[in-house]
Amino acid sequence: MNKDSAAPLRRSRYSADRAALWKLPGRDLTQDLDLSARELSYLLDLAARVKQDPAPFATALAGRYLSLLFEKPSLRTRLTFELAIKQLGGDAVLTTGPIGDREPLKDVARNLDRWTHGIVARTFSQATIEELARWSRVPVINALSDRYHPCQALADMLTLKECFGRLEGLKLAFVGDGNNVAHSLLLTGARLGVHVAVATPAGYEPSAAIVEEARRHAAPGVRITVTHDAAEAVRGADAVYTDVWTSMGQEAESEQRRRDFRDYQVDENLFALAKRSAVFMHCLPSKRGEEVTDAVIESERSVVFDQAENRLHAQKALLLMLL
Ligand code: CP
Ligand code: NVA
Repeated sequence: MNKDSAAPLRRSRYSADRAALWKLPGRDLTQDLDLSARELSYLLDLAARVKQDPAPFATALAGRYLSLLFEKPSLRTRLTFELAIKQLGGDAVLTTGPIGDREPLKDVARNLDRWTHGIVARTFSQATIEELARWSRVPVINALSDRYHPCQALADMLTLKECFGRLEGLKLAFVGDGNNVAHSLLLTGARLGVHVAVATPAGYEPSAAIVEEARRHAAPGVRITVTHDAAEAVRGADAVYTDVWTSMGQEAESEQRRRDFRDYQVDENLFALAKRSAVFMHCLPSKRGEEVTDAVIESERSVVFDQAENRLHAQKALLLMLL
């Protein structure tokens, strides 16, 4: 559904198959499942095209402006969105700090949609993203919340596809905290045919509801496993992925987490259990010496900067589709 022509409170999720894939105007990306599996595949193809030959897209967003709202710090997401918008001929305005402290979120959304054509928001709470999307008449894109990081997963799938020429049948092992990044990899990876094995310490598993959703929406034959055994998850993997043990907003728990995650570091011994052709992945920023050793992240098999580069191209494709 096109928000421009819709009543503000009508939502547009899962209506993918009604729309031409090339254009999904007015749709949100509040979380991974807002794009169907077909749309995801299309987005990855478009991202590859835009990456290879950006010139034809240089004015696609001419006269279009986006609001960037960042409650938490960001290097990659903020800069790649700003660059993506500018490289497509549009422009962006940025506000940092708490969203909705001075006025209700529904009012924030109904201001921004009068001035700009889309909202990109990084928030502490997923509920903030959903409230903005509920009230905004322009697309709302989740730039990371406590629960999801869908834009990261798009770039990661593009990176895996570049590395292996396909996604179907690959095994991705995620070792560490069952956090926002793990959730998005489960939901996006499984629908694109990637087997996902998550290994966490007890008490840090991914949300059971999201694991169940990933299984329900997975491509045929995809295996989703959740274990406390890092070696079991990594064995035979094509990609080994980790993220910080303490996410933004959890700083008070960092001492405890360092103790709880001690056996979940991706070091050379653990990485050696993956396939010989396996790549190492990390969304960045990393804490070397905690979730990953310097030797692994600096190794030839590390693709972390390809992932970072692909944030730009994947988000360009996303903006082209939603706007
Ligand atoms: N990976 C990622 O989202 O990085 P930033 O926190 O720097 O945006
Ligand atoms: N899980 C991390 C990801 C940062 C890109 C966090 O939420 O802080």
